[in-house]
Amino acid sequence: MDKVLIQDLIGKSLEVREKAYVPYSKFPVGSSVLFENSKIFTGCNVENASFGASNCAERTAIFKAVSEGYRKIYALCVVGSLNDFTYPCGICRQVLSEFVFDMNIPVIIAKNKEEYRVHKLSEILPYDFGVKNLI
Ligand code: THU
Repeated sequence: MDKVLIQDLIGKSLEVREKAYVPYSKFPVGSSVLFENSKIFTGCNVENASFGASNCAERTAIFKAVSEGYRKIYALCVVGSLNDFTYPCGICRQVLSEFVFDMNIPVIIAKNKEEYRVHKLSEILPYDFGVKNLI
């Protein structure tokens, strides 16, 4: 994957991470997602006193995009802890899989602009369940 694009996605994820609303976990997360027409949407986690009503950064970004008419994801980046690699939770992996171009899209897990990993979605969500299974 293009290094310039990776750096851009990590930079945007770090930036939006600053907006995280995390009074309960104190664990800010930022995500940026590349959609069709090179459009990038960003999102942070937004928590709630009723903990179950909280939303992860990745889903915030994806739901923002879908509500603006975008449907096809070509890459996702997430930055959580700056000391550790923070992988998307199970629900976010499932939501991501609903809108991906295919299961080979890169998922970038970053601590910062220098330390990051790139996985295929199929590596972190094998045997996925999707519309194809609804027969
Ligand atoms: N969280 C995310 O936003 N994305 C992840 O990939 C992992 C977890 C959030 C949810 C919650 O606000 C906080 O991190 C602690 O679980």
